Amino acid sequence: QEVARTRLGGAKLIVVANREPYIHRYKDGEVEWIRPAGGLTTALDPVMQACGGVWVAHGSGDADRAVTDASGRVGVPPDDPNYVLRRVWLSKDDEEGYYYGTANSMLWPLCHQVFARPVFDQIHWETYRKVNETFAEAVLEEAQGGPALVFVQDYHFALLPRLLKAARPDLVVAQFWHIPWPGPEKFLVCPWARELLDGMLGNDLFGFHTQNDCNNFLECVDRALECRIDRERFAVQRSGQVTTVRPFPISVDPELAQEYLGDDWEDRANAMRKKHRLGDRALIVGVDRVDYTKGIPERLQAVDRLLQKHPELKGQFHFLQVGAPSRTHIPAYRDLTEEVNMLAERINWEHGTEDWQPVVFLNEHHGPDDIFVLYRASAGCVVSSLHDGMNLVAKEFVTARDDDRGVLVLSQFTGAARELPDAVIVNPFDVEEMADGLYASLTMPAQEQERRMRRMRAQVDDHNIYRWAGVLLSAIGKLIPDTSEVLPT
Ligand code: G6P
Repeated sequence: QEVARTRLGGAKLIVVANREPYIHRYKDGEVEWIRPAGGLTTALDPVMQACGGVWVAHGSGDADRAVTDASGRVGVPPDDPNYVLRRVWLSKDDEEGYYYGTANSMLWPLCHQVFARPVFDQIHWETYRKVNETFAEAVLEEAQGGPALVFVQDYHFALLPRLLKAARPDLVVAQFWHIPWPGPEKFLVCPWARELLDGMLGNDLFGFHTQNDCNNFLECVDRALECRIDRERFAVQRSGQVTTVRPFPISVDPELAQEYLGDDWEDRANAMRKKHRLGDRALIVGVDRVDYTKGIPERLQAVDRLLQKHPELKGQFHFLQVGAPSRTHIPAYRDLTEEVNMLAERINWEHGTEDWQPVVFLNEHHGPDDIFVLYRASAGCVVSSLHDGMNLVAKEFVTARDDDRGVLVLSQFTGAARELPDAVIVNPFDVEEMADGLYASLTMPAQEQERRMRRMRAQVDDHNIYRWAGVLLSAIGKLIPDTSEVLPT
């Protein structure tokens, strides 16, 4: 955590992300708060708690307005506030065009290699542009009166860096793209490719998870725009602005696992086993937003294949899928939920008995207290994304295993696979290999589990989220030596 406690020459840290780290909502007439599912908020909230500053985000909970002041500000975490959440209010039309439309029906499938066709819609695009302007206004307000570092997150805000730099050239602007970046053959079909790239080149520093994403991005820029590219320094110069493009593989806070597990995790695990009728059978767990990039049907097909290949395993284990509902206004997401439900039902009908169902699908939001108990209580965890920038479930699972047991079955198409070669690495499109991976998670000798898990835990302990933030903030400091410097506290 020491590494992340940096300040940029006294500059204020302003993080911009579509998703807020805490959502207030009404339940039975009372206001409660939840933490949303998804890697971005999981990763960045601990950094903000360590550094302080302002997080600008879309106010998405139905009780969000009730707890904020007139300018949309509220202290978070709600239990013990140590940074400011500044909420931006969007209309339903804004959400439709910017979030469901351009961000999640165009850019999301455009950036992931999952054979989903991106939707190119002029009205959605205009709304995306407008919402980027709305966020620029909120950020400029927060940045008034002094130097600031604006750290923009993800594909919701490709146009924001250019807007910020045009209004306040003195601002230091960096962006991290939490999802993959495609090659030019794929990206340049987008009718607004040039405008997107130009917006992103408003940044001083641009980060991806992997070097491959950086290379793809530079290829796209090279083909689409007038600019100078320095391939040794991985820098692009356009209209007097230099953008350095570098990989910064994101991570998690390994110490949180113990907090979430506490002393009573076994009791809580037993309560969950009872509630979902799991007995004391071995568990293989999957934890995802229900998203078509995550390969959930593929892993269910692998469970089916596993039971065909190894009928002796019938009645011996459960595959437990926690699937947080996500982006459910988009037809592709609704269809996927239905597909997963139907597949689970079919597999249970085919292989199950009166008192044993192989697949348990929990299609609801679960907080980290429950998720970490499941990680700790399981024999294996499956991450079978068809394509994923990093995937933090893989890293979270590892941090939960201080017993040095448990097998991680991990798709080769995740950023995490590059850092965790001791996982059982699989191709999620290969059902045979996936079924063998699941088999390994149930049968791997304890010694081998321990050898692999130790190495994975050492990797995540060492390359944790504070190191990610520290390295990124130092890189920004080095790029702009005249206006700011990174000072350890
Ligand atoms: C991915 C994206 C994040 C997003 C998260 C959850 O990790 O990179 O930007 O916040 O998914 O998705 P949601 O649409 O619910 O914010």
